[in-house]
Amino acid sequence: MTEIAQPPLSATPFAPATPAAPLTPPETAAQPWPQDRVCPYHPPAGHPSAPEDRPLTRVTLFDGREVWFVTGHAEVRALLGDRRLSADRQHPDFPVTMPRLAEQAIRPIPLLGTDDPLHNRQRRTLIPGFGLQRINALRPAIQQVVDELLDRMLAAGPEADLVTAYALPVPSTVICSLLDVPYADHEFFESRSRRLLVAETAAEAREAREELRAYFRRLLDRKRETPGDGLLDTLLADPAGTMDREELVSMALLLLIAGHETTSNMISLGTYTLLRHPEQLAALRADPALMRGAVEELLRYLSIADSLVRVAVADVEVAGETIRTGEGVLLATPEANRDPASYADPDTLDVHRSARHHVAFGYGIHQCLGQNLARAELEIAFSSLFARIPTLRLAVAPDEVSVKPGGTVQGLFALPVTW
Ligand code: HEM
Repeated sequence: MTEIAQPPLSATPFAPATPAAPLTPPETAAQPWPQDRVCPYHPPAGHPSAPEDRPLTRVTLFDGREVWFVTGHAEVRALLGDRRLSADRQHPDFPVTMPRLAEQAIRPIPLLGTDDPLHNRQRRTLIPGFGLQRINALRPAIQQVVDELLDRMLAAGPEADLVTAYALPVPSTVICSLLDVPYADHEFFESRSRRLLVAETAAEAREAREELRAYFRRLLDRKRETPGDGLLDTLLADPAGTMDREELVSMALLLLIAGHETTSNMISLGTYTLLRHPEQLAALRADPALMRGAVEELLRYLSIADSLVRVAVADVEVAGETIRTGEGVLLATPEANRDPASYADPDTLDVHRSARHHVAFGYGIHQCLGQNLARAELEIAFSSLFARIPTLRLAVAPDEVSVKPGGTVQGLFALPVTW
């Protein structure tokens, strides 16, 4: 990895979220959010859940602000589809859910942090790159990446950290090739992405983000002179020229991080979960055709994106409550995906169930752009791993694996395995 020039930090003034008026109704004590998972595949016991609590309750953030916490599956879908909730990180009342996000208002976050019509313009330019047909055409290339990584892991075995040997390089290699980012730089951007996602302070997150931005500025400048054949080159060459330089840098950053961190966590956590549910794994081995549905069930069961954040830009009535303008809302996908009103026996992993309509990829206009890619990677990664290594097992006691902190994308820091 060649050295990265450190640009001066942005001088744009930071507009902190203004404390919103107290929520209504105030009769129950709000629980702190986020809490860490104790079991890696169950939502924290301390979070409100459906139906023990109402589908809409409240939690307290680290800065003392109370926000709505929505655990009902139907209510989460309805609210994610409701334009009166905004994803605009620059809105002055947008909740700051973690200290590392204290500067989220400094510069616009494309797609994920925008509302229509800007969101629609940005998303339209990307849809062709992530369509089902395009992703299905990538399957042989994904299979090749997976096969080579398994060859290497088996040759170096009989033990490995599944995260570094497999779960991280599979999606990281694939997204690099899709975007045309040099995989040789992976240690740099994987470490900075991880730091950005689990940083405890805003300063730590800022440093990691600025290093990544500097990297992408240089990469995009190089591509302007010598174009490649990836999605970033397509965006650069867009004849409509709808994105300026900094918007492109932000977009590249979002796609790279979203493209490897999430899927990597699903591969490691999914493998752990299947190893801890041997009867489900046996069913999958006996009938590989179950894999497609099993991936949906794992997405539902694990719900690695810990709550989606919004701010109300108009009053919204839901489940007998009123979310007032300016109030923050957490759409609790892990809890919603365990709502017994939508899934029978929701705390049981069942690879035979139809987990359709889960909200692990969100819902509405921001529903995951990369879901076709994620599904293809997960199907191929799990099928090949368990077919090639039938004796795969944990190399440590189940409670010794290190779980990522709450409020981040959920996953494991490491997964020691043997065979
Ligand atoms: C299993 C893996 C993945 C999970 C669980 C996941 C989950 C999510 C969720 C929950 C959202 C909605 C966020 C919100 O509404 O606030 C989202 C959006 C997004 N995801 Fe994924 N994702 C995964 C993989 C990927 C991959 C492989 C990519 C590829 C680049 C990707 C790119 C994106 C983008 C660009 C958005 C923003 C879409 C928009 O705002 O219109 N994701 N993802």
